Amino acid sequence: MKNDVSGIRVNGTRLLEDLEKMKEKTETPGQGVTRFSYGDMDREARAYLIESGQSFGLSIETDSVGNMFFRFPEDRGKPVILAGSHIDTVQNGGWLDGIYGTLSVLEAMRRIREEKLDCSKSIQLVVFAEEEGSNFGSTLTGSKFLTGKYGRNNLDTLKNQEGVSLGEILAKEGYPPYDADMMLDWRRIQGMLELHIEQGPVLAQQGIGIGIVDRIYGMKVVEFTFVGVGNHAGASPMMGRQDALAAAAAGILEVESCGIDLGQGQAVATVGKIQVLPNGSNVIPQQVTFTVEVRSAQEETIHAIMEEIQYRMEEICNRRNIRCHYRQVAFSKPDSMNPKMVALLEETANRLGEPYLRMNSGAVHDACMLAPFVPTGMIFVPSLGGRSHVPQEDTRPEDLIRGADFLLAALLQLADCK
Ligand code: GLV
Ligand code: MN
Ligand code: MN
Repeated sequence: MKNDVSGIRVNGTRLLEDLEKMKEKTETPGQGVTRFSYGDMDREARAYLIESGQSFGLSIETDSVGNMFFRFPEDRGKPVILAGSHIDTVQNGGWLDGIYGTLSVLEAMRRIREEKLDCSKSIQLVVFAEEEGSNFGSTLTGSKFLTGKYGRNNLDTLKNQEGVSLGEILAKEGYPPYDADMMLDWRRIQGMLELHIEQGPVLAQQGIGIGIVDRIYGMKVVEFTFVGVGNHAGASPMMGRQDALAAAAAGILEVESCGIDLGQGQAVATVGKIQVLPNGSNVIPQQVTFTVEVRSAQEETIHAIMEEIQYRMEEICNRRNIRCHYRQVAFSKPDSMNPKMVALLEETANRLGEPYLRMNSGAVHDACMLAPFVPTGMIFVPSLGGRSHVPQEDTRPEDLIRGADFLLAALLQLADCK
């Protein structure tokens, strides 16, 4: 006989405590959380997760690039339902991005253990490494390795700002040697769920507690380098200067207008990172390197806007006698969540009596990498003021608990727990 699992909820107080503890352990007081993959704070976070998982008997494996899998050891051989998110952050990011979904899955698994449920599928927590691209500029790194988009050669090609490669960092940190078999075994995996804060204003503005994601934006990041002629800022006349920063400034305004005029509310374009050489108040800038990031739910729109931006950059550089080159740093396709998974999440909402909104995600997520291979779904909770990737990122405690309860209910259904 099937037990009635409909009343099972997460321990909300414990989840909030976990989130608070993780924040306390890894924040930079007053400046949000900077928890880059493979750094000190990441090590702290991993240790915390491992200790929590082991405390209720999970087995834990870490792969060659730092993705982690938390499993019930007795589940060996069962079909798998993956659920998880990431634990890394952007520079001075918030306390919920990624870690909220990760700790919620851990709490869901702890409740399954406490209730001694018998699930016909194995619910496994996956923690994706280097989702934000904070080290190498390339987002979704761990899930790209798990899905075969990245392979051995990317251990050398992905380099941080200091020119240190991913492979060198992994070796120094003692991760296991690269194993081509780290790719997920799609024959065994039957679903993937990710719970996340929305990171935008929609749910909070509409006063709705749950978002069910239809489609995740894709993104392309191109790094431009403008090379001009450095010179004395006082002794060089204004006419005839080849000021790389003035050219970049003109280019950056073009990025904004392409985002507005060509994006038409369906795409966004951002310059978020810039480096000026030599960066002195009394030196005409010799060289400027900056990133251009374009995102949309439509892949053609991303390419069309980026092409127009490249065209305008070249035009500015020709006019100002500046050398310009560029290279693609990252690309992820937009993807839709699986219709059956969306339907299951809608059913869950109806069963729980939770108002929900079907919506797109402007942020990228590891779920998007897995979506072409396995039925994938995403759940959002509101972000206060729509703010994220900043220290002010926040969500009301009741919304955090609601999202985790929702995730648990969906997982119990998916894994056929009784
Ligand atoms: C990840 O958070 C991204 O959307 O950049
Ligand atoms: Mn993020
Ligand atoms: Mn995230």
